[in-house]
Amino acid sequence: MKAIGVIGAGQMGAGIAQVAAQSGYRVLLSDIGIAQAEKGKAGIAKRLARAAEKEQISTADAEAAAARIDPQANYDAFADAEIVIEAATEREQIKRAIFTEVGKVMRPDAVLASNTSSIPITRLAQAAPDPTRFMGVHFFNPVPVMKPIELIRGLATSEDTVSRVEAFANSLGKTVVHANDAPGFIVNRVLLPMLNEAIFALGEGVAGVRDIDAAVSLGLNHPMGPLTLADFIGLDTCLEIARVLYEGTGDPKFRPAPLLVKYVDAGWLGRKTGRGFYDYSGPEPVPTR
Ligand code: 3HC
Repeated sequence: MKAIGVIGAGQMGAGIAQVAAQSGYRVLLSDIGIAQAEKGKAGIAKRLARAAEKEQISTADAEAAAARIDPQANYDAFADAEIVIEAATEREQIKRAIFTEVGKVMRPDAVLASNTSSIPITRLAQAAPDPTRFMGVHFFNPVPVMKPIELIRGLATSEDTVSRVEAFANSLGKTVVHANDAPGFIVNRVLLPMLNEAIFALGEGVAGVRDIDAAVSLGLNHPMGPLTLADFIGLDTCLEIARVLYEGTGDPKFRPAPLLVKYVDAGWLGRKTGRGFYDYSGPEPVPTR
């Protein structure tokens, strides 16, 4: 059984681990400690069991996929992995420290890929054990549901690395798109201005939260309104990407909406903190403005 490593057992890392396990890979899953890795696995097992209840997969397949996820207390076992995907916190220093540590045990032919949504791949590659075997592999949330994977090559990424990661992405049943190493890649370059503009519109009193979300989701046939989606992604992540677009291009059209900055300053980060543009403490989300 081929082994892959996933670093980070949060929303994105757990989603990546789930789809890889369902595609037959043995998944080494790590986080800041074994307890967080075990918690990530427990969440995946629960989602797989729910899929079995809904008869989307068999109970045997759900159990087999969960059994292929192997929580790790450290990186020692990552020496077996052909591909290691880093999906840790979106902080450059944290990612760099991880690359140094995991680089000590990775096989000399193994590929390291980052699920960063915004940090330049060419710059991150400087901390990788070998920049030719490093690239971006950007999944979307929720990973088991969303079809695309953006593959981003850095300046030094080799063709062999791209074709191996592309084969891996295809083996997960995903649709591969290629992007150059430019701020926001493709999806976030297009998405963030829309979310940011919805927040400008809210801040300027164009309409309330419910009306903005209803208008855009119904008017454009999007599954979620932009404020719901911003809360779903996390307002800190949205702000981080907006800043990368603004600073990376120098174009004022990407400047973050003041209300977004204010919400992040207040610690209102969306679903994950229970409050953003909606309050999630009750049975149904309630607009906060
Ligand atoms: N994990 C796994 N599966 C999930 C899930 C999760 N967190 N949330 C929902 N699902 C599944 C459900 O099980 C259900 O599957 P089924 O149809 O096979 O039973 C399916 O998704 C639909 O779920 P629901 O019926 O509960 O709810 P909705 O119909 O409202 O769909 C949604 C939920 C799929 C999240 C949908 O609202 C959606 O597609 N929203 C937009 C998501 C989006 O735009 N994501 C991209 C964000 S940008 C990004 O990730 C990049 C980053 O860098 C910022």
